[in-house]
Amino acid sequence: MPKITFSRGRKTGAKAPPPRYRWVEGGPRKVAAAGGPGGGSGTKAGEGAEGPQDPLLDLDNLTGLEKVKEIIKEITAYAKMQKIRQAHNLKSAPLVLHMVFKGNPGTGKTTVARILGRLFQDIGILPKGHLVEIERADLVGEYIGHTAQKTRVQINKALGGILFIDEAYSLARGGDKDFGKEAIDTLVKAAEDHKDQLIVILAGYKKEMELFMLSNPGLKSRFPIQITFPDYRREELMEIAGKMAREREYIMSKAARNYLYNFLEDVNAKTLNFSNARLVRNLIEKAIRKQAARLVHSHNPSREQLVSLEEVDFAVDEGEAPEDRFYYLQY
Ligand SMILES: Nc1ncnc2c1ncn2[C@@H]1O[C@H](COP(=O)(O)OP(=O)(O)O)[C@@H](O)[C@H]1O
Ligand SMILES: [Mg+2]
Repeated sequence: MPKITFSRGRKTGAKAPPPRYRWVEGGPRKVAAAGGPGGGSGTKAGEGAEGPQDPLLDLDNLTGLEKVKEIIKEITAYAKMQKIRQAHNLKSAPLVLHMVFKGNPGTGKTTVARILGRLFQDIGILPKGHLVEIERADLVGEYIGHTAQKTRVQINKALGGILFIDEAYSLARGGDKDFGKEAIDTLVKAAEDHKDQLIVILAGYKKEMELFMLSNPGLKSRFPIQITFPDYRREELMEIAGKMAREREYIMSKAARNYLYNFLEDVNAKTLNFSNARLVRNLIEKAIRKQAARLVHSHNPSREQLVSLEEVDFAVDEGEAPEDRFYYLQY
């Protein structure tokens, strides 16, 4: 049995000022910790955030997503070179960095968008690099003029960073009479007017987003970067589960791992290849709660017990139909 040690994660050691990194020629370099830079680190916190380390490292540390990583690195390099060329008075193409992220829920779209904001901040493309994540209800109002106003509020919040619109296709839902159209128009205008200060990312299911882009011919040229997020394979989900447990200072027992591996196959079979990292996160978090309930009555749980997630912690509760677990899939 290997000795149970955890490297001090940046996340858990949050009291000390986080190390700062800069992307300089030759790769990421650590720079002296800053005593509270403007903007604060609070804006960067969020689900799955690795903490304020080099965003390129955070990108590389994500499981799978090879193609996505490659595209992101290419875009970042291109944007950086255009900026340097401008500084040398060389011809440079105007940067249009608005994007479409296509893929199922839980495939890492928001996670990658958040890292992207930090990457772009590091290379001076975005002043702040924060992420504002919204959906239709944050944009669409109830009366004429309300939508444009609501949309502008969100745009202002996002200035300097990324405006990430989840399930963006739903803006086209109600057809011409729906206020969603007004939101799209306002967004498109803002995307052009503030292109030095704002990146807009439209996200959603692949098919729906493709139809959405077709239904608005003007959108394609304004959102020229399209990235597809594939479903995770079961092995990748297992790796993600392991990482999530480790981050929280838990270890899955071998039996727990086997159980999860089989459970994920069941999910796949029942839901047509719906492989979702958010489901994995929920399962880990639920197992952690169940482990706590299991240990709470033992007088002096050992360190080993405290960190170990067992098969029973993942198993379906008595009286709980296995299908009940699938409610996790519904968001
Ligand atoms: N490649 C990955 N490696 C590790 N964790 C991931 C990965 N992709 C997603 N996650 C985790 O899964 C959860 C859902 O991801 P998210 O980015 O919100 O998906 P989406 O925006 O596509 O619905 C988050 O907790 C995130 O940290
Ligand atoms: Mg998301």
